[in-house]
Amino acid sequence: MTPSAATLDVARIRADFPILRIRPRGRPLHYLDSAATSQKPQSVIDALTRYYEEENGNIHRGVHYLSELATQRYDETREATRRFINATSHNEVVFTRNTTEGINLVASSFGQAFVRPGDEIVVSQMEHHSNIVPWQLMAERTGAVLRAVPVTDVGELDLDAYEQLLGPKTKLVALTWVSNSLGTVNPVERITAIAHARGIPVLLDGAQAAPHIPIDVKAIKADFVAFSGHKMLGPTGVGVLYARDDWFDRLPPYQGGGDMIETVTIEKTTYAKAPSKFEAGTPDIGSVAAFRAAIEYLERVGLDAIHAHEQLLLAEATARVSALPGVRLIGTAPEKAGVLSFTMDGVHPHDIATILDQNGVAIRAGHHCTQPLMARFGCGATARASFYLYNTMDDIAALMTGLEKVREVFG
Ligand SMILES: Cc1ncc(COP(=O)(O)O)c(C=O)c1O
Repeated sequence: MTPSAATLDVARIRADFPILRIRPRGRPLHYLDSAATSQKPQSVIDALTRYYEEENGNIHRGVHYLSELATQRYDETREATRRFINATSHNEVVFTRNTTEGINLVASSFGQAFVRPGDEIVVSQMEHHSNIVPWQLMAERTGAVLRAVPVTDVGELDLDAYEQLLGPKTKLVALTWVSNSLGTVNPVERITAIAHARGIPVLLDGAQAAPHIPIDVKAIKADFVAFSGHKMLGPTGVGVLYARDDWFDRLPPYQGGGDMIETVTIEKTTYAKAPSKFEAGTPDIGSVAAFRAAIEYLERVGLDAIHAHEQLLLAEATARVSALPGVRLIGTAPEKAGVLSFTMDGVHPHDIATILDQNGVAIRAGHHCTQPLMARFGCGATARASFYLYNTMDDIAALMTGLEKVREVFG
């Protein structure tokens, strides 16, 4: 056990998550679906409740007590987010609804400003649909073309192919940091350096990175990073789009409305500076306020310790699941986050998930919004167990008991 892993007091952590005490169908809950959405600690639930009980007002527009307090809470989370990702300024942090909205924002605004017919956007075969479809929509509007970095048999990006895909027509690289289906952690500093050497900006889909890996945007030098609060202990309805330096000044607004303007006449509008320029309308203020509690919780526990703990769980689960007859692991890269995707001969992943659910074990089955990746591995779907700071070896034991049942039923 690594020293940092030893410091993670999982029993104490679990006590902070009230939902882990529910008993679905009279059995203990074994929640192995945090890649879809994480559970929330009491401090986040309390922050959300407190917001609506004591702090609710609309931001930026009022001089009264509640409006000022709500504005303060909103701004405090922006500063906490800046600190969490080591951004230079809180003006580099725009709140969105989720990762998907952040990527759509860049695809739309960047496309309008910089992309012309015949230009190319580089994605990969392992992208979540959220990092494919927005670029396709943009390509339809601009006449651009998508190119995809292939994925190797173990589930890594083929970096030689990546380099070869980059050329004078490449306008942007948009890649995932951590694959939600494979668990692969991509070498983002290298990816960014390769693109930047050719003057090409990089967007990273950080949806599966932010909950598990310390993010230092200054070190990785990515131009854009998008992630979701709900996968990192926060409430639904809040996401983050980070953009480096002056990118937000150079991009046109994504949506128009209140809060994003400087002056409006019927003839013409001038826009507010970022981040307001990209936050049209009333945001999900309560969720943003509570998101700060999620960030502080992760900072208290420490992402290094969380990562080390997940690696122990992943190693145990990988060894035990792969020893079962007829199991094929999808995603065996050396650098992986806590995601275990697999298939079992003769059993549909939905049947695996259904039988596990009867034993209180929550996993996910399906294409995980990565259909091109499923096609690459020749399977329509996988069963996926994903781990987080509150999971234990008990959860893995329950997973194994459930998988034995699957084998009995389908054996
Ligand atoms: C890698 C990755 N990208 C993007 C998303 C989309 O996240 P959201 O639905 O929160 O926008 C997910 C969600 O599972 C994901 O895993």
